[in-house]
Amino acid sequence: MNQPVMTGVAALNVPAYIKHQKLIDWVAEVAALTRPARIYWCDGSQEEYDRLCGEMVAAGTMKKLNQALRPNSYLACSDPTDVARVEDRTFICSKTKEEAGPTNNWMAPAEMRTTLNGLFDGCMAGRTLYVVPFSMGPLGSPIAHIGVELSDSPYVAVNMRIMTRMGKAVYDVLGTDGDFVPAIHTVGAPLAEGQQDVAWPCNATKYIVHFPETREIWSYGSGYGGNALLGKKCFALRIASNMGFQEAQSGKSAGWLAEHMLILGVESPEGKKHYVAAAFPSACGKTNFAMLIPPASFNGWKVTTIGDDIAWIKPGADGRLYAINPEAGYFGVAPGTNTKTNSNCMACLGENTIFTNVALTDDGDVWWEGLTKEAPAHLIDWQGKDWTPASGTKAAHPNARFTVAATQNPVIDPAWDDPAGVPISAFIFGGRRSTTVPLVTEARNWVEGVYMAATMGSETTAAAAGQMGVVRRDPFAMLPFIGYNMSDYFQHWLNLGQKVGAHAPKIYCVNWFRTDADGKFVWPGFGDNMRVLKWMLERIDGQASGVENVFGVTPEFKDLNWDGLNFTQAQFDQITSIDKNAWTEELKLHAELFEKLAYHLPQELVATKAEIEKRLAN
Ligand code: OXD
Ligand code: MN
Repeated sequence: MNQPVMTGVAALNVPAYIKHQKLIDWVAEVAALTRPARIYWCDGSQEEYDRLCGEMVAAGTMKKLNQALRPNSYLACSDPTDVARVEDRTFICSKTKEEAGPTNNWMAPAEMRTTLNGLFDGCMAGRTLYVVPFSMGPLGSPIAHIGVELSDSPYVAVNMRIMTRMGKAVYDVLGTDGDFVPAIHTVGAPLAEGQQDVAWPCNATKYIVHFPETREIWSYGSGYGGNALLGKKCFALRIASNMGFQEAQSGKSAGWLAEHMLILGVESPEGKKHYVAAAFPSACGKTNFAMLIPPASFNGWKVTTIGDDIAWIKPGADGRLYAINPEAGYFGVAPGTNTKTNSNCMACLGENTIFTNVALTDDGDVWWEGLTKEAPAHLIDWQGKDWTPASGTKAAHPNARFTVAATQNPVIDPAWDDPAGVPISAFIFGGRRSTTVPLVTEARNWVEGVYMAATMGSETTAAAAGQMGVVRRDPFAMLPFIGYNMSDYFQHWLNLGQKVGAHAPKIYCVNWFRTDADGKFVWPGFGDNMRVLKWMLERIDGQASGVENVFGVTPEFKDLNWDGLNFTQAQFDQITSIDKNAWTEELKLHAELFEKLAYHLPQELVATKAEIEKRLAN
């Protein structure tokens, strides 16, 4: 890479409506370090969005899709080395290593600051620094928080406008001295004078860094997804989970939760409505579940979406837990999405969408594996190469994404933007397990539910860089997202459950992914998950039966509604059976996890494990 030219500090050009001196000083300080050619304060307007997209089309970062087929939509293709979250480059730099815990990468804050100051020195040369103000959660909600991202990527600025409440109105909430989370992002590719830019600038060196004490986020070297859209995983999960925990630690309140959960509403034909929050690891169908279409035989049942990825949850004045979706859009995995698996999602994607790393059709539309049964005869793949079905490669990257506003969802819940949030009746935890874990289990009590969630395992997917398909323990589907010590996180959950007492939601563990001897999924999934959901809601309302087993309560075949589905008792047994040998092995893995998390591990969880072992031995 050429040596960047050390330009002087660009003019700040602060808009008159911004009155927050600390924010202005911080932007000036970051500009002095990163030395951008220009500073631009985003206002979040449509005109600004269109202009930035137009500039990216001119620069080759994006292509405008066929306006007749996919109005106001774009395709961006990333550098092939920058396609997923980089968990091994993600750090929680708390004061001590113990506070980050054994599941997070840690470096002493002072040492990390020295590294980052070196990397960020002049890193924005030749580029524009975009000031991106955003609210996670409805503007002004008592559950919401404000962030400001300084980024040298216009792709980040336009994606943030879709994914968050981004723009001028945020400054009204901030006023002259409101709190905000400062987030700094660079693609790490300074431009020397006259140097030609590339379509997707990034750097082989990557750092995604969180300083929980000062609530700062610093991201270097990647322009992709959760590495770069810092409101999402970095703020709404890692920093926010730490904030919710610290609030409890300080004794100010019982604290709150930031969880990797979708939130959906289910209404029965009689008009009874429940909201449930469900945690699944990345790329396990959260968006599909959040937009579930009940089978035709479930006439009158309605499922509506509050959110598809993240939930912020707080006890309300009535003692129940209330949740908001801190995001305002969906950054979903495209491959596998089609009108059969998720027609609501396909309806979202009809216009005003940014696609990343999908394939381009000859008529200027998009395609990805699974969109249609048969692939088109010719495509331009996500790496810009000619592609035919004979190519033997994927036309879209397996972690290809769409970014689209929540308001385009045809089944958006009327309360999705309610500052008060919605009351949660149940938590669902699900991993991707081809064996061992049954279709659905209800925890007998909060502690047993926390144990289920804490010991969850899942086969890995393409959302994170690294090996695919191996089972890793993914407690609460939060392994890559907890911004503090995982054992303290378990304790925080136990404490909060105790605090809400009788109002505590029921907890369920599900597994849609058991396979048969040929490796085929046995459970149809998608809309048919409604059958399991209905059983849960009936349990909550005291109307459905179930049987107790070693782990909790499960339905028998007769307890689920099978109208309209040809699913046999034998198939049901295949996905609900408990293999004692497999579970004896599974519990060894729980023991391994608990050994790793021994520091501060809640004793209630150790006791729960001992009880399961006792029952298993009988
Ligand atoms: C996501 C993820 O992008 O979990 O939502 O990786
Ligand atoms: Mn996610």
